[in-house]
Amino acid sequence: MKDAEIEALQRELERLRLLATRDRTLLEAIFAQSPHGIIVCDANGKLTLQNKAAERIWAGSASAENIEGWTRYRGFHPDGRPYGPGDWAMARALTTGVGVEFEEYQILRFDDTKAYLLGGCAPIFGPTGAIEGALSVFADITPLKTVSHDLRRAVQTREDLLAVVSHDLRNPLSVAMMRTAMLAKTLSNDDEGKRICRELEIVQRSCEQMQKLVGDLLDFGSIEAGTFTVTGRPESAVKLVDHAIESLRPLATSKSLQLEVKTGIADAVVSCDRERVLQVFSNLVGNAIKFTPAGGGISVETVAEAGHVRFSVTDTGPGIPDEQLPHLFERYWQGRSKSTHGVGLGLFIAKGIVLAHHGKLWVEPNRSSGAAFHFTLPIAA
Ligand SMILES: Nc1ncnc2c1ncn2[C@@H]1O[C@H](COP(=O)(O)OP(=O)(O)OP(=O)(O)O)[C@@H](O)[C@H]1O
Ligand SMILES: [Mg+2]
Repeated sequence: MKDAEIEALQRELERLRLLATRDRTLLEAIFAQSPHGIIVCDANGKLTLQNKAAERIWAGSASAENIEGWTRYRGFHPDGRPYGPGDWAMARALTTGVGVEFEEYQILRFDDTKAYLLGGCAPIFGPTGAIEGALSVFADITPLKTVSHDLRRAVQTREDLLAVVSHDLRNPLSVAMMRTAMLAKTLSNDDEGKRICRELEIVQRSCEQMQKLVGDLLDFGSIEAGTFTVTGRPESAVKLVDHAIESLRPLATSKSLQLEVKTGIADAVVSCDRERVLQVFSNLVGNAIKFTPAGGGISVETVAEAGHVRFSVTDTGPGIPDEQLPHLFERYWQGRSKSTHGVGLGLFIAKGIVLAHHGKLWVEPNRSSGAAFHFTLPIAA
C-alpha cells in the first residue's frame, strides 16, 4: 500500500472516530438532561445504564445481572398485583423483540413511597438483527394522577349533592304549590283578597321556576349517569306540535312575537315519549322566545323524511355565532350574560331526550340571520 493511501485511510479512521465521539457525547447529553427516566439493559437483562432522572423518579437505583435480578424494583398492575420479573415492559421487549407502547403502572420507590409512571420500551438490535438489549423510557405522572383523582372526586361530590338536594326539594315544592293554589281559592273577591291573590301568584311562579330547575337537575343527573330512558308510543306529529305550541303561544304573544306552524305532512305517526318531546319543544321554542327581540318571528316546521320526521324551530333573533356552535350542547353553557332566566341545561337535556329516542338534534351552522334547530324522531313501526 502506498504512503498516500495509508494516510487517506488514517484520515478516514480519524473522521469516523470523531463522528463516534460526537454521537456518544450527544447521547450522553440526552441521557443526562432528559426529564424522563431512561434505563438500558443488555440481552440478559443486566442493567447497564440509568440516567439521573431514573434515579430521581425511583428515589435510588439497584444493580442486576439478569431479569430475575430485577426484584428490587417493585411494580404493580392496575389491579394491584405485584409485577413478576417477566411483567416489566423491558423484559417483554427482550423476549418478543417488539416495542411496548406507553403504558401506565404503579411502583413502590426505593424510599417506599408510591408513584405512577407512564412508560414505553424498545428492543435494541445489533448489526446482525439479534436483540442486544432494551431501552425503557418513563415519566413520573404522580402529580397529574393526584390532581385528576381530586378533580373527579370533587365533580362526583357536586353531582351527588345536586341529585340529593333536587330529589329532596321536589316534595316540599309540590306541597308549597298545592297549598298556595288552595289558599288562593279561599280568598274573598274584595281589594284585600285580590292583593293577596297577586302575591300568591308571584309565590306560585317562583315555585314553578324552582320546580323546572329541580326537574332539569334530576334529568341532567340521569343523562350523565347513562340511566335516562324513554318509553316510545305512537303519537301524531301534527298533534305533538299543536300541543307544544298551544302552551307556548301566550308567552310568544306577550313578547309580541309571531309564532307560525308549518306542517309539511298529512299526519305522520312518530314513536316517542310525549311528555319528553314536549319538553324538547318547550326548550327550543322557549329559547327562541327568550332570545328573539319583540316584533320578530318564530317558525315551527314538520317534514317527513326517510324513516323519521324532522322538526325544525327557527327564529329571527340574533342567531348563534359560529365560534359558539361547538359549545351549545354542553352542560351549564350559556353564550350570553347569565341574567336571562335559565342555567344552560336546556339544550343538554333536549339532546339527551332526542338521543334516547334514537333521533338527532343539531343546530344549523352558517346562517345569515336567526337561529335554526332541528331534531328527528323515528316514524312508528
Ligand atoms: N334560539 C336561540 N338564539 C340565540 N341563542 C340561543 C338560542 N338557543 C340557545 N341559545 C344559546 O345557547 C345557550 C344554551 O341554551 P340552553 O337552552 O341550553 O340554556 P338556557 O336557555 O340559557 O337555560 P335553560 O334552558 O337551562 O333554562 C343559551 O344561553 C344561548 O346563549
Ligand atoms: Mg333554554
